[in-house]
This record gives sequence, structure tokens and C-alpha cells, in this order.
Amino acid sequence: MKKILVTGGAGFIGSHTVIELLKSGFEPVIMDDFSNSDVRALEGLQKICERNLIVYQLDCTVEENLRKVFSEQLPIGVIHFAAYKAVGESVENPLKYYHNNLASMVQLLKVMGTFGVNQLVFSSSCTVYGQPDVLPVIEDTPERFAESPYGYTKQVCERIMRDYCSANPNFNCALLRYFNPIGAHHSGEIGELPYGVPNNLVPYITQTAAGIRSELTIFGSDYNTPDGTCVRDFIHVTDLAKAHVKALGWLENQNGICEAFNIGQGVGNSVLEVVKSFEKVSGLSLNYKIGDRRPGDIEKIYADTSKANRVLKWKTELSLEQALTDAWRWQNKLDDSAKK
Ligand code: UFG
Repeated sequence: MKKILVTGGAGFIGSHTVIELLKSGFEPVIMDDFSNSDVRALEGLQKICERNLIVYQLDCTVEENLRKVFSEQLPIGVIHFAAYKAVGESVENPLKYYHNNLASMVQLLKVMGTFGVNQLVFSSSCTVYGQPDVLPVIEDTPERFAESPYGYTKQVCERIMRDYCSANPNFNCALLRYFNPIGAHHSGEIGELPYGVPNNLVPYITQTAAGIRSELTIFGSDYNTPDGTCVRDFIHVTDLAKAHVKALGWLENQNGICEAFNIGQGVGNSVLEVVKSFEKVSGLSLNYKIGDRRPGDIEKIYADTSKANRVLKWKTELSLEQALTDAWRWQNKLDDSAKK
């Protein structure tokens, strides 16, 4: 079986991608320092896959750690998820973000070069666009000044890979620019595990519905959008995970390329629409109020995904309702296991 190194493979998107890799006949090799992920993800994965997985609990900013994994496992490609991702925290502690997100990128490329591994799929973000003038946003849209150190690390990592590809003509790289990943595996065995108070909308909604939070605050209702709340492109994490496998397949047939792809549903939904949709799928009435705008939020963004549809032969299959149903199932399962 062809081995694929999955850095950050115990995280939210990484763990779902591990399943899709196995389903497509790859052998994932998980490398994760568990600083922002949980062993419960591995337990869930092992249940879904009904087998043991190859896991290294190691920090991938350390070159020696990467060398160990590469020499023991000889992966043929890498999917690089390992990174910190909280926008607000990155403003408070920028060096934590610059060190972790950039050092891991540089060390990984160095070690890939040493071992002659030439296929890399990178977790980028629609944050590289800022607030685009024209929607849906296409990959050629010029980048805007990054609002946060987190966003800047994604822009810099993309630049590092472009420069590395220019200098190494055999190297192949897909930059997947995620929009807003939500949902959970339909089995309810893995999903998002936010620490403390969630920053993101959907975990906040499910925790409010579960009674863990008393009330959801919708940040702003005076935006220039149909209902006044922000618009985002929400994509089921399983659809997103599948894009990585498609990208790997595409990279195998390339010879020196570095391409960015928008990975979203291609549809904009407002925050209020998500709340209403959750109420519909759960049959519950959600306790929410309208609050002030959250600093740094952009008004609206959604993806033009035609490049990924055409080039990667990938498209989404799951709806917003399915994603919210799966997120709610996962929340209930978490609450049940906490009660045991
Ligand atoms: N929101 C609320 N209440 C909450 C949480 C969020 O109203 O309690 C709103 C936000 O204001 C925003 C929308 O829900 O309008 C989505 O917010 P998220 O925090 O879920 O997601 P973001 O769009 O802010 O962030 C996502 C990714 C980041 C990425 C960013 C790029 O999570 O990693 O998009 O814009 F950097």
C-alpha cells in the first residue's frame, strides 16, 4: 500500500482525511503532537476503520522527528495539516503561530527533499483572500493584507511552496484553500473537538443546543447581506476530506506544478440561515441573540469551485442540512460519553 504522511492527522480535517485515504487504498501515517488534538480522535478512527493505524506522537517543527518518520515509513506523498488555527489566539500570541506554522512547513520541505518525496497537499484557507471585491471568489483573485498572524502564516506558506516549486522543477504541490468546514463523520465516531469555548459557529450552535452554552450570539446583523448577518461557504468535512485524496491522485500525474484550489460548497449561506437550518434538522428552538460585530470578520465570502471540479474531478455531495445533522449527532455522542 502506498503510504501517505498525514501531519496533524488526529485533528478535525486530518482525521476525516485518514478515513478517505484508507477507503481509496492508501496507508496513512499519522504524525501529530496532540497539542491541539485528542486521543479520542484516534479511538474513533480505529472504530470506523476496524484496524490499528500507524501513529507517531511527534512535533513536526523538529527536523529529526520528520527524518525518523520518513526513514521508517518511506511515504510517497504528504498531506500537511499540522498548524495552529485560531484567528484570535494568533493575534494574542503571534510568535506561537509564526513558529509552529512556518517552521513545520520549512522543515517538512527540507526533509521531503532529502527523501526525494515530491507530492504535497497543503491545508490553506480562504483567509488568503480577505474580503474579495467579486464573488464567488476565484483562485486568481489577488491576495489582500492578512487580517491576522494566522492568515499571514497561510499566505507565507503558500509563498514558500511556490518558491520551493520554482527551485525544484520535479516538485508537485496542491494548495487547498478551505472555506468553512463543518459537520462530522456520519458514524458519529469523530468530529470537531474544540477546547473550551468554541470560536466557530457550528460547534457553538451544537453546544448551545446541548445546554453547554446558555445562548448563541450572532455577531452583527447590519452587514450588507440579504438578512444582515455574515455570509460564508460551509462545506461538510467529509467532502473536504475527499478533495485531498483527489488532489493526491492529480499530483501523481504532474511534473512540476504548484496550484491553488478553492474547496467549498460554492454556495453562500448566512449565519442566520445556518441557525434556522439547524433548528429544522434538530427539531429544537435555539436560544440566540443578535450582538455586536466580531472584529476582523469579513462580510461575505463564497467559493467558485469550478477549477477543483474540473481539474481534480471533485465535487461536493453533502448538503448544509446533512452537515448540521452530523454535527448534532456528534455532539450528542460526545455528551453521552461524558455522562458515562
Ligand atoms: N459567528 C457568530 N457567533 C459565534 C461564532 C461565529 O455569529 O459564536 C459568526 C461569525 O461572526 C462569522 C460566521 O459565524 O460571521 C462564521 O464564523 P466562524 O468563526 O465559524 O468562521 P470564520 O469564517 O470566522 O473562520 C473561518 C475559519 C478560519 C479562517 C477564516 C477565514 O474557521 O480558519 O474562516 O475567513 F481563517
